[in-house]
Amino acid sequence: MRTIVILAIISVCLAGCGQVAVDQQGDEAVVVSPLAPVISAPSVVGVYPGTPFLHTVGTTGAGSVSFSAVNLPDGLVIDSESGMITGVIDEAGEYTATVTATSFYGSTSSDLTIVVGDTLALTPPMGWMTWNMFAGNISEQLIMEIADAMVATGMRDAGYSYIVIDDLWQGKRNANGYIGPDPKKFPNGIKVLADYVHSKGLKLGIYSDAAPRTCAGALGSLGYEDKDADTYADWGVDYLKYDYCGAPGDQETAIKRYTVMADALKATDRSIMFAACEWGPRKPWLWAADAGANVWRTTWDIRDTWDHGQFDSGHNGIINCLDRHIGLEQYVGPGRWNDPDMIIAGLNGKGGPSNANGAKGCTDIEYRSQMSLWALLAAPLITSFDVRNADEATLEILLNTEVIEIDQDPLGIAASRIVKDGELETWARPLADGSKAVGLLNRDDKPRQMTVTWNQLNIEGNHTVRNVWTQKSEGVFETGFTTQVPSHGVVLVKISEK
Ligand code: GLA
Repeated sequence: MRTIVILAIISVCLAGCGQVAVDQQGDEAVVVSPLAPVISAPSVVGVYPGTPFLHTVGTTGAGSVSFSAVNLPDGLVIDSESGMITGVIDEAGEYTATVTATSFYGSTSSDLTIVVGDTLALTPPMGWMTWNMFAGNISEQLIMEIADAMVATGMRDAGYSYIVIDDLWQGKRNANGYIGPDPKKFPNGIKVLADYVHSKGLKLGIYSDAAPRTCAGALGSLGYEDKDADTYADWGVDYLKYDYCGAPGDQETAIKRYTVMADALKATDRSIMFAACEWGPRKPWLWAADAGANVWRTTWDIRDTWDHGQFDSGHNGIINCLDRHIGLEQYVGPGRWNDPDMIIAGLNGKGGPSNANGAKGCTDIEYRSQMSLWALLAAPLITSFDVRNADEATLEILLNTEVIEIDQDPLGIAASRIVKDGELETWARPLADGSKAVGLLNRDDKPRQMTVTWNQLNIEGNHTVRNVWTQKSEGVFETGFTTQVPSHGVVLVKISEK
């Protein structure tokens, strides 16, 4: 439940706020400044009992913001300047706090539900990963600069909370079998880095593999799962991406190896999210959640292209990944998500591995379509570009709060493809507030007119259609909605009862 309490005074706003919206609440007219803070998704987070909790209340809006909260569970505090909620909750249970963000322009309150139990990733993880842009070209300095940039660009405040160090961070194991990072890349160790990342209100992820060697040939974790999990926990790691290069092809071994690592992570004193990465051949949607994974890759690596014409380990554009998801929506829910790989916005043809095999980049329309489609799929939103040099077009794509809210919807029901008509597809998912998110996808190479009918959505009568990207209402419609969709575009709308 989100309420906006108005502090802004008309005269102040006339001087400084530009456009002023007026809301009617009962008999009282209140002024809503468009610059007032809006609290970002997610509205529900999970943590294991007795483990460190970190959640940063992000906001969009102008000016500096101060934070407060009521009904936080025992053991947690909120930092009034940064919005970081930290501490440890010992008692399992579901706690709903109300957090308030206040700036010169207004004050917003929003419920935050903290579920202390055995499930993490109650909404799909969001963040940034090194691989698609930087591959092995990583270092302590890079990660720190990216953390700074995620704060400066507003990405953290929009909900992108994890920074994941992918392959090629590893050094050697010591005589006792404990792994350390490559000392040239991470001269001060990973703990120092984790502390830095946490101090910025972000979380740290790391990478390993269920075999002796990783995909890029570094040391994997097979046979060292307990030691590695303990090491990650000591360092303060919050997320593990666990790859499958060099492991046998059968499903049974995969289930065994992922379960061993999941159990090792759960036995630590941290809440460490577990992301399985076996790319789909062993149908992880059928078993990965039971094996203890919160997220599982459904596809081979994505390339920075719209359509690579084929689906294999070296070629996958946006729609090649999308096409793997038909029928997979049934396996998704809070704590368990299909992962069609990283968001490629921002690469602009200049990425590392993502630009292999002739992938030359996408148009902004195509990058925006990927965000729309991944939000419909309830997919992780893990970016992988040089955030330090983020351009405006990329940030406009990544920071749209209403698109992110669809992805992070607490109901956690992923979209189904409800219509396929040649190059035109309609995808729809129900949302927690009773509305529906609908994406009209035009895969054709020319603009096409598309219609979604209320029959197709099993709804009747007057409904409001809100264009999520423009954040404007398209109007009220009685039987359906028709619009023009650009080539390779997605018109993403939210349809609610009037
Ligand atoms: C595999 C994964 C990628 C990346 C690389 C690292 O290809 O699918 O996402 O982690 O390994 O080597």
